[in-house]
Amino acid sequence: MSEGGRRAAGPLRLGVLVSGTGTTLLAIDEAVRRGSLNARIALVATDRPSCPGAKHAEDRGLPLEPLPVPKTLPPGEWERRLSAALERERVELVVLAGYLRVVPEEFLGRWEGRVINIHPSLLPKFAGPGMYGKHVHAAVLASGDPETGATVHVVTPEVDRGPVLAQERWPVRPGETADQLSERQKPLEHALVVSVLSRFAEGSLALPYRVPTARA
Ligand code: GRF
Repeated sequence: MSEGGRRAAGPLRLGVLVSGTGTTLLAIDEAVRRGSLNARIALVATDRPSCPGAKHAEDRGLPLEPLPVPKTLPPGEWERRLSAALERERVELVVLAGYLRVVPEEFLGRWEGRVINIHPSLLPKFAGPGMYGKHVHAAVLASGDPETGATVHVVTPEVDRGPVLAQERWPVRPGETADQLSERQKPLEHALVVSVLSRFAEGSLALPYRVPTARA
């Protein structure tokens, strides 16, 4: 795997991790198919093999790695298996696309600057362990904030605190429910994540992304 920038030719090899409905995966695949994203989905991995996202991968003929999580699995073993599958498929960039496990430090050490996430709020607001999906939207609505948005960021060991790559904002509509907000903003999130992937694919964002070291 090359260090310090993308090689000139060939589609960006993506690993997409899903645990849920998989609409982000669909959006990435659509962008690849219509030729607006120079990438290849080299692997879809899931901790929930029966989730709709895994079904979408199967239906579309995408290479699926079902990785269930038996209770007897030693700590870290699941991520070691994931890492081996990603390496086998020569994945360059890992996208957390509605993936619900916290990514452990050991895995991030191996994949530093090569894992991104889309979070459905204006980070650093509404962030951290337990803040995902509907929980985020419910918290946004409860806060009375007039606007919300989404953030694509590099994943680092501190949950939802990695460098921001792109952020977009839009208004909250009066009387809107968390479900309505979630549905309304998903296409906006999809466009945002695809735009960031394009920057990596074209080389305007280098791989691995250089995560600034914290100042003492
Ligand atoms: C999105 O809302 C995204 O912001 C968050 O998880 C959700 C994924 O949805 N990280 P889907 O499973 O891709 O439909």
